[in-house]
This record gives sequence, structure tokens and C-alpha cells, in this order.
Amino acid sequence: MTQANILFVDDEPGYRKAFIRGLADEDIAIETAVDGEDAMEKLVTFHADLVITDVKMPRKDGLKLLEEIKLNYPDVFVVVVTAYGDVEDAVRAMKAGAYDFLLKPFDFDIIKMIIGRVADHKKYAQKDYSGIERRKRFRFKNIIGQDQKMFNIFRMISDVAKTNTTVLITGESGTGKELVAEAIHYEGLRRERQLIKVNCSALTESLINSELFGHEKGAFTDARSQKKGHFELAHDGTIFLDEIGDISISTQLSLLRVLEMGTFHRVGGTRSLKVDARVICATNKDLPAAVKQKLFREDLYYRINVVSIHLPPLRERKTDIPLLAHHFLEKYRKSLFPNKKISRISRRAMSLLLNYDWPGNVRELANVIENGVIFCRKDNITPKDLPINLRDWSGKLKPLTLTLASKSLPQAESALILHALEGTNWNLKKAAQELEIARGTLYSKMQKYNIVRPVS
Ligand SMILES: Nc1ncnc2c1ncn2[C@@H]1O[C@H](COP(=O)(O)OP(=O)(O)OP(=O)(O)O)[C@@H](O)[C@H]1O
Ligand SMILES: [Mg+2]
Repeated sequence: MTQANILFVDDEPGYRKAFIRGLADEDIAIETAVDGEDAMEKLVTFHADLVITDVKMPRKDGLKLLEEIKLNYPDVFVVVVTAYGDVEDAVRAMKAGAYDFLLKPFDFDIIKMIIGRVADHKKYAQKDYSGIERRKRFRFKNIIGQDQKMFNIFRMISDVAKTNTTVLITGESGTGKELVAEAIHYEGLRRERQLIKVNCSALTESLINSELFGHEKGAFTDARSQKKGHFELAHDGTIFLDEIGDISISTQLSLLRVLEMGTFHRVGGTRSLKVDARVICATNKDLPAAVKQKLFREDLYYRINVVSIHLPPLRERKTDIPLLAHHFLEKYRKSLFPNKKISRISRRAMSLLLNYDWPGNVRELANVIENGVIFCRKDNITPKDLPINLRDWSGKLKPLTLTLASKSLPQAESALILHALEGTNWNLKKAAQELEIARGTLYSKMQKYNIVRPVS
């Protein structure tokens, strides 16, 4: 199967030939049409993913064609080509729903980039995630994922679940560490026993020992009766020590003792109690760095880090975004509006989801979709149903420190432009947004400073 099907529309034969020639080496199928009227006829039999159309043409012009495609084939991307200097047409086209615009003469690097993005969409966004069978294949317990990195994690969970080994789960906030801990327990030998979850960061220094190990009656003022701690309750089961990076050095020592000897004392008690609990820990902190700074005991770190499972951030497993987004769409639709029919996420909305960098990972995605379900007025989620920060997000650039040999303004300007282009992977639209100038202006400045994309 080809990467993408492209319909190229231009009334000048020279441009049609140049287009076919310029993309001869690409894995795509190209069909051409001589004007808007011809294009609409071709679309009946040619299943285009992308239409690239000139604006000024006889019979039906590019803007009219764009309008008809949006109406009849909402899933087809349209890119409008304008002559250099006709940027107003491009702006009108973008407002009318064009995916992007191109300037003549053609820059085939930019065309290939656009085709690449369209092909990515075809691959990820348009899959049918509705079938239950299909969803089952991409699910391990409650964890959903289809990225190879997640498949590897599913394997690790099922291997480690068969043992009693201590596991350390790491990863940014919202990546699913708690879900992994649950999967290990419920897939494992101790599934019939308790899984005791302890959020270490929520325990105050004065309470943590009594919470973890329990206390005897009268051990301190409020200790009116004997109380079992989390370790004791987890006997024969599993204890999940969440946010382990947040515990104090003194509690780290008590923890080390339980892990090494399997024994502990209740606070105020003298008897040494034995416990057999499987230990799973999680943190979003960089523990090796904490060890270096002497904030975390090295011996404890090696005790808990027997097997480690690292959850990659969502931005490093983008193929999971459409899958998870559809999962949350169905989940929130069912619980919030069981009678409402919202079955799709529009292509443009999906494009925003795919482009965003998700600092809050899967939890943030779930919140965004929940919001979308609430605010959505039609049967599909569109960009306006998404939070404003996501709509405006255009890939934040690393701060630039200009160290210039001279104080020349042109030199600073060209350095800034180059920085924006590199930071957006040579996406002219995004770079222009970053620089807060029109794309046409960016284009002419690139020519002025002779900035060209390096051949990779
Ligand atoms: N792969 C996934 N499939 C389905 N739901 C997920 C997935 N990953 C995370 N979630 C959901 O996202 C939310 C956050 O997940 P979880 O609490 O496991 O993250 P965490 O890594 O423990 O975050 P934190 O460090 O902030 O505690 C939960 O509601 C969870 O159900
Ligand atoms: Mg957590």
C-alpha cells in the first residue's frame, strides 16, 4: 500500500508535470486534475488522502473546490497553492479549513514534509478503534497501549508477576505507574491476597512509621489502642509504596530493615514481627540523582531497584494517543451522557492531540477528552472542544541564547529564524507562529538570508 494518495490540481500542464517529476521517488500515488470541476469528478473514483490545489483556475477555482471537498469529503486534507505575493488567498483558504498552504515555486522538501504528516495521520488517526476485539488486543489488564514500548512493558509485567521480586516503577507523573503496580499484583501469585497501597508523600514525618509499621497501645498520646500498619496488613500480599522518593532519611532506614530482614517493630513495641509482603515501589523522581545528593540511601535504592520498569512519557509513544483518546471518549461518554452520540474525534482535533507534548501524560489526555465530551455540541470532538492551551500549542522552543560576534541586527534575525526552523523541524507554519510573523514574511526572510534546510 502506498503511503498516501494525492490529487494535484492545476490548470497549467507545466506545473502538473513538475509536481509528478519532483515526487517521482516517493512512495505515493498521484492523480492530476486540470481544475476544480475535474477534481471533483476524479475524487469519485480516486480515494485521495490529500488534495493539493492551485487557486486561480477556470470553471471552478481552488477556494470553491476546498469548500466542496470539506462538505463532501471531510476527511480529505486540502493544501492550497498560491503564487508568491498572493498570501491573502492562503489566509482565506486556511480560514476555510485548508490544512496548509504552499507557495509557488514549489519547495519539494516542504511538500514532502506535508505528505509525511498526512501519511502519519492515515497510519494513526484513522484506524478503527471501535471494535471490542481490536481494543482487547491492545490492552493488558487496565493498561491500554499499542506502541512497541508498551508491548515490551506488558511482557515485563507478565514475566515479573510470576515471581515475588521487588519492582521499582519509574516514569513521569500520569504515565500509569499505579496501573502497572496493580497489573503486577493481579496477574501474580498473590492476586487473591490484599494489595495495600501507600502514598508515601501524603504521610507526615511524625505518622509515617506508625502508618507503615503500626503501633502499640499507648505508644504516643493518640494511640488509644493497638493498630496494625500497612506492612502487617500486606502480609502474604503486596505492598505498593507509591512516591517512594519522598520519604525521609530516617524512614528509609526502617524500610531498609524490613526489606533486608523481613521483620519490623510496631511503634512503641519491643516484639520483632515477621512479614512476607511483596514490595512494589514507584516514583517520578530521579532516584540515582537523589542518591548522589545523599537524599536517598544508596543501599535502599539497590534493595528496591531489583527489577525496574520505566514508563515512557506519552510524547514518546504517539501511536498510543489515538487509541487512548478513543478509549477515554467512550468511557466519559458512557458515564456522563449515555444517550449522546459522540463517536469521533475530528481529524484536526486529533492533529492537535498528536502534536501536543503532554507534560501531564495519560492523566492529562483523559482530562482533555473528558472536557471535550462535556463541551462537544455535535457528534464529534473538534478543536474548539479542546482546551485553549492545546489549540495554541505550537511546540515550545528551547530558550535561545544569542552569542553573536557582532551586534548586527540581520545576523541576530537570521539566527533567530534558523533557531525557530530547527526547533519546529522546519515546519514553516509553526516557525512563523513562534516568530509571530506571517508565513510569507518568513519565507521571504529565508530567501534574503539564504536559509535552506540542510539535506539530511
Ligand atoms: N496506558 C493506560 N491506559 C489506560 N489508562 C491509563 C494508562 N496510563 C494511565 N492511565 C490513566 O491515567 C491516570 C493516571 O495514571 P496513574 O495514576 O497510574 O499514573 P502515575 O504514573 O501513577 O502518576 P503519578 O506519578 O502522578 O502518581 C489514571 O486514571 C489511569 O487510569
Ligand atoms: Mg501514581
